Amino acid sequence: LFAGPVDFFKGVVAMDGLPPADRTEVCFAGRSNVGKSSLINALTGRNRLARASNTPGRTQEINFFTLGESRYIVDLPGYGYAEAPVAVVEKWQRLLKAYLAGRQTLRRAFVLIDARHGIKTVDEDILTLLDKSAVPFQVVLTKADKVKAKDQDRVLAQVRSALASHPAAFPEMVLTSSEKGEGIATLRAIIAGIV
Ligand code: GTP
Ligand code: MG
Repeated sequence: LFAGPVDFFKGVVAMDGLPPADRTEVCFAGRSNVGKSSLINALTGRNRLARASNTPGRTQEINFFTLGESRYIVDLPGYGYAEAPVAVVEKWQRLLKAYLAGRQTLRRAFVLIDARHGIKTVDEDILTLLDKSAVPFQVVLTKADKVKAKDQDRVLAQVRSALASHPAAFPEMVLTSSEKGEGIATLRAIIAGIV
């Protein structure tokens, strides 16, 4: 699936700008700066397809990328802290939630969690929204290259126990590093099996 062409399709700022629901899709959600755009670049092998940055709040639109002829891969704006004006952030948070709750062709939401920090309150809010909307989701731990071996098991246990109370959650998590390539092939295979 990822061997074929991947292209930027559209940046969406309002629900009425969403592309027609004529392809299946997966999306990447998570706190600002958790590594969503970087992960899309790692998955597609295209370094600058999605714009990544050290500044939280880099992605401010819902970005659709075409994966072959019949799928989209979707990069979302982050939630939580962002270095952008409050009114702007509120607008994209509403859009993000409307998208997650109401996109018929969304096959799975990947919720990215920093492997150093585990699940926070802002993440819980999104996981609950996904439960209520019956959107199956799977946690992807990011920045594995930055987590110390001694902390890894503790964070994994925290995430596993938090997921137990979310009916829409897949129990399996994927540990990734966009920097080092860890977990990328695994995640590609998971996506190929869904869309
Ligand atoms: P927003 O669009 O602002 O919500 O952020 P995002 O979730 O798209 O994060 P982005 O991909 O822009 O990455 C944020 C920062 O984390 C960048 O400086 C990346 O280089 C860095 N980063 C992302 N993934 C990794 C990783 O696996 N390892 C390390 N060490 N850094 C990473
Ligand atoms: Mg981004």
